[in-house]
Amino acid sequence: MSETTVGTESPQVAAVPHPLDEAAIAAAVERALDAIAAAANLEELKAARIAHTGEKSPLSLANREIGKLDKADKAAAGKLIGPARGRLNKALASRTEELEAERDAQILVEEAVDVTAAPRRRRAGARHPLSVLQERVSDIFVGMGWEIAEGPEVESEWFNFDALNFKPDHPAREMQDTFFVEPPEAHLLMRTHTSPVQVRSMLERDLPVYVLCPGKVFRTDELDATHTPVFHQFEGLAIDKGLSMADLRGTLEHFARQMFGAEASIRLRPNFFPFTEPSAELDIWHPGAKGGPQWIEWGGCGMVHPNVLRAAGIDPEVYSGFAFGMGIERTLMFRNEVGDMHDLIEGDVRFSEHFGMEI
Ligand code: DAH
Repeated sequence: MSETTVGTESPQVAAVPHPLDEAAIAAAVERALDAIAAAANLEELKAARIAHTGEKSPLSLANREIGKLDKADKAAAGKLIGPARGRLNKALASRTEELEAERDAQILVEEAVDVTAAPRRRRAGARHPLSVLQERVSDIFVGMGWEIAEGPEVESEWFNFDALNFKPDHPAREMQDTFFVEPPEAHLLMRTHTSPVQVRSMLERDLPVYVLCPGKVFRTDELDATHTPVFHQFEGLAIDKGLSMADLRGTLEHFARQMFGAEASIRLRPNFFPFTEPSAELDIWHPGAKGGPQWIEWGGCGMVHPNVLRAAGIDPEVYSGFAFGMGIERTLMFRNEVGDMHDLIEGDVRFSEHFGMEI
């Protein structure tokens, strides 16, 4: 009996039994059944199938030998080898079924998704309440048909003071109040209010003008609970034929109610600003104030001074207008109960998150 090796299997497996050697056939079948039972996974089972039932397996080789036998022996050999192969195929099929079921169960465990596991959330961040409030103010005026106007933060002294009718010796022009930009002969400064955008709007736009101008302003204040050297204002300006203080009042009242609720109202007290005449201090009746409903000082306003109209090339005999200006930080502080300016400028996202997207 010759010994042939098949792959990496032991030479024993590859021994070719004589088709009529019953003991050898039985031994080959036993070895095959052992190998099938021992296969721990589908890959090992495939190797066992090739070794024990493949073309070069002992039983196949023995089967091929049948052709060489006499007719009588052929039948006997067929009866020996046929059932042997049948047993192996059956064993293979049932082990395949078992191992496939094991594999499927394994996949179910390994690929399971725990739908109850807590997700890892990435913080979405938050918009700063100053931005949200500034947008809300802008939306209210856009809703009345006004336009949004912007101007530069580094402004010329002429727009910031002269065109607004500030006298040359006005205290706001002093170094201790205003950040001037070098060199002095350039007459540039960090704008101290949003009012210069009034003049720019009148020069740049066709009449009539209805604009809201939100933006950053700068003053040489030390940072403390109620002051900051960089803060925000919004400025309103309306220039048209026949505008009066009644139009100013009506506009501000509508605005106040949009911001503070239907019970809010306003009150104007005489004041002085170089760029308006008459000028007034604007107080708001804040129904939801922290210490109970009360009057709170909100900003300044008035009828645009004829000198300001003239500086912008507008004839005060034909056109009139009103203007107003408020601080956004201040509005946020008393409207949303922010007690300390530091919270507004420190940029702690937890502070912003607490306001949400709608304020
Ligand atoms: N510009 C002023 C300030 O910064 C606020 C102001 C007052 C603006 C009266 C105006 C106004 O338009 O009419 O304090």
